[in-house]
Amino acid sequence: MRANRFVNLDDARTAAKRVLPHVVFDYIDGAADDEHTMRANREAFSDYALVPRMARGSVHPDVSTDLAGCDLSLPVLLAPCGLVRAMHPAGGPGVARAAKNQGTVSVLSTVAGNAVEEVCAAAPGSVWFQLYAAGGRDEAENLVSRAQAAGAQALVVTVDTPVLGNRERDRRHGVTPPLRLSGRNALHLGAQVLARPAWTARAIKDGVKIARARRSGGRPATTRAGAVAMGASPFSWEDVSWLRSRWQRPLLVKGVLSSDDALRAVDAGADGVIVSNHGGRQLDRTPGTLGVLPEIVAAVRQQDPSAAVLVDGGIRRGSDVVIAIALGARAVLVGRPFLYALSAAGQAGVEQVLSILHDEMVRTMALLGAASLSDLDPSWVRRQPAR
Ligand SMILES: Cc1cc2nc3c(=O)[nH]c(=O)nc-3n(C[C@H](O)[C@H](O)[C@H](O)COP(=O)(O)O)c2cc1C
Repeated sequence: MRANRFVNLDDARTAAKRVLPHVVFDYIDGAADDEHTMRANREAFSDYALVPRMARGSVHPDVSTDLAGCDLSLPVLLAPCGLVRAMHPAGGPGVARAAKNQGTVSVLSTVAGNAVEEVCAAAPGSVWFQLYAAGGRDEAENLVSRAQAAGAQALVVTVDTPVLGNRERDRRHGVTPPLRLSGRNALHLGAQVLARPAWTARAIKDGVKIARARRSGGRPATTRAGAVAMGASPFSWEDVSWLRSRWQRPLLVKGVLSSDDALRAVDAGADGVIVSNHGGRQLDRTPGTLGVLPEIVAAVRQQDPSAAVLVDGGIRRGSDVVIAIALGARAVLVGRPFLYALSAAGQAGVEQVLSILHDEMVRTMALLGAASLSDLDPSWVRRQPAR
């Protein structure tokens, strides 16, 4: 599909559903258990209304910012996501180029399917690296020094994945861990793949073997409980301090949902935290991220005003970004929307998602009466539960 047919981010989801085998679509679209947290992320945005001020502001509001040494044309980063290469052969390099072309940053997942060197070379200066380390500190050290040498601008340490969440859509397709093929599911998945010839043709052309998707880093180990461990042992706060001593550039901790953990991250030397529940894919029944953002911002500002608080989960409109910034986020990340767009339209699709969010933000701020991001504070929003 042509990317310029997307009018909004939901259009990318609709397009991806038409293009992808069900198993790949559900890997992106699904979440843990009853998917309660994934819905809560969206619902948390409905709890806030914008409060416009008339006859002020600018018809060309400035939505640029700087973050961790990077100049951003808009305060939206592409979140780290696994297996992007299975969605489209453009994979990690295509995602990184899209972010750079639109003046922002992409965060490469350890398990994206492309090597960090290849992705950093595709978009110098605008790639961050997200770390999982199944092999413990040895593997972490190796990955971090590779990312540093390749030129990744910042390190994102994800702390919410000691084991993988219970993704029932994947299990129903017979793929555990995500997208691993076996004799048992081959027939069922074979029919799905044949029903999506365009995706299948380009995957074959790319030489993608989903079962052996090349990993940019560590190898998941299976625990006794049968869960997929993303670390030999989960990251501890001591591990975060240890990583801090090995990584010279900005370091952010991703996956905090309480002020307590945010303060621990800052104490461990993090330059920022990402308030995230992994898009609802890990522990179900955690709160929507926007609901906990204000208390985390307040706690972090008191401890270290220079530390950045970012948020992700359920951001689908420029107005969502404006609300998050008004509540104290320095920037946001989006996950699924760019994956849908990548699947349906490759790099151009990802660029279109960022361009839509940029234009929606500019329009929202012009109508709101805010001239720049630094104008925004909680007085521009009102909490009014929709239900
Ligand atoms: C298919 C998929 C794969 C993901 N893989 C990773 C990953 O490898 N590392 C990580 O830290 N987060 C991962 N995430 C979580 C995202 O970084 C992000 O927190 C989440 O997608 C934000 O919610 P949203 O999808 O509603 O925008 C993944 C999310 C999706 C949808």
